[in-house]
Amino acid sequence: MKKTFKFTVLPGDGIGPEVMDAALDVLKKACEGEDFELSYTRCDVGGAAIDSCGEALPKSTLEPCAAADAILFGSVGGPKWEHLPANLQPERAALLPLRKIFKLFANVRPGLLYPQLTDASPLKKERIPNGIDIVCIRELTGGIYFGEKKTFKTLEGETAACDTMMYKVGEIERIAEVAAQTAMRRSKKVCSVDKANVLETSVLWRKTVSEFFAKNYPEIELKHLYVDNAAMQLARDPNQFDVIFTENMFGDILSDEMAVVCGSLGMLCSASLGDGSNSLGFKFGLYEPAGGSAPDIAGKGIANPCAQILSAAMMMRYSFGRDDIAVKIESAVRKAVCDNVRTGDIAFGNKPVSTKEMARAVIDRL
Ligand code: IPM
Ligand code: MN
Repeated sequence: MKKTFKFTVLPGDGIGPEVMDAALDVLKKACEGEDFELSYTRCDVGGAAIDSCGEALPKSTLEPCAAADAILFGSVGGPKWEHLPANLQPERAALLPLRKIFKLFANVRPGLLYPQLTDASPLKKERIPNGIDIVCIRELTGGIYFGEKKTFKTLEGETAACDTMMYKVGEIERIAEVAAQTAMRRSKKVCSVDKANVLETSVLWRKTVSEFFAKNYPEIELKHLYVDNAAMQLARDPNQFDVIFTENMFGDILSDEMAVVCGSLGMLCSASLGDGSNSLGFKFGLYEPAGGSAPDIAGKGIANPCAQILSAAMMMRYSFGRDDIAVKIESAVRKAVCDNVRTGDIAFGNKPVSTKEMARAVIDRL
């Protein structure tokens, strides 16, 4: 009997459903004739789930996720749900709980700009003659996103609010391990980003990271940067980095910067991974494009599906152990883009193609 690769598909809101359909078409084609079957359940999440079930992450979505080996996620949120109280909105009521519930503490975001696509980057060509190839490892279940939050109706006579940033040594060490392993597969260079000149959590981060690498990975070249400097260096000379490694909110901000430096948010995929293994003995993970639901272009069929397609490739690599199929998909995307089949966000003089045409071009090159 054939093995089954079981995953839950959560298209979500905005461009989510369009790019998800494109990614599933590519994935099915890439897996044709293999010794396994793809089996997936599609569920509402975010605004779509608020509309159909009254909550952003209903049980009917959570249960199939728990029973699967991976989650392929689109994007959530949009103006339609912005009137809701902040803690009931799609981002905070669906995406963050998913990360927390499945303990997906490690977010891997590759910053890849093909040399043929340098015109899509806002950086001058001279600065990135060979494109960009870096990766951001972001801590995803700790820090200010998940610390205690509070709004005070009155505090010393005025309304006030607070968020808390906290890290435990174990949380820092486990993400340091992911950064180290990533670096070992690349050029053994890690830049850890913090704000140790101001924040107590960063002082602990820097100390823990330094000791962790000295003890376990002395062969890795470890550097520390303050986050403001890191943001500047990323815009000045992204290739001075190889693995950028940082806490949750700094990683959120720096990875968007990395995305735009690499041409477009529409190309950036991500994997959110935990410690546990799935029923196949690989990592359980949630795979999603780093960009948002892009409500301004939703429903027009023009969104770039590449980030979603590449996220599906990452799922094949990390959750299903099929690096070969991941590489096959990644090469097909690269070929299509380099043959100038491009959606509007990366068109630059080429005639923009639709989401469907982009997917078709990738399928033709598998
Ligand atoms: C991301 C997103 C999310 C985050 C939002 C949608 C909550 O911006 O995945 O980077 O801040 O983590
Ligand atoms: Mn973000």
